[in-house]
Amino acid sequence: MTWTRLCSISEISEDDGLRIDRDGRPPLAAWRVGDAVFVTDDTCTHGQASLTEGGVLDGFQIECGLHLGAFDMRTGKGTSAPCTQPLRVYPVRLEADQVFADLGDD
Ligand code: FES
Repeated sequence: MTWTRLCSISEISEDDGLRIDRDGRPPLAAWRVGDAVFVTDDTCTHGQASLTEGGVLDGFQIECGLHLGAFDMRTGKGTSAPCTQPLRVYPVRLEADQVFADLGDD
């Protein structure tokens, strides 16, 4: 695994998540529920909506603000239509207050 440092835990709002922009690559989203941190793609698989900008969090569920579909941030599985395509989820490692993710071949 190749770990890439993304942010510190304190930067992630439990209300909105944190959008992580990357040069020339699709943005990521970091989510925090209590002590747990998850990293997913930020763009909804149904359309071109940012999940961190306009999305609503309910526990581990991310509701997209555009058409109100939803995903489970732990698995990426769509939990509410029209989100049938899973959201990509990345392995996360925490070191002190730093968040690292394995972005694979992304
Ligand atoms: S763009 Fe997210 S549910 Fe349609």
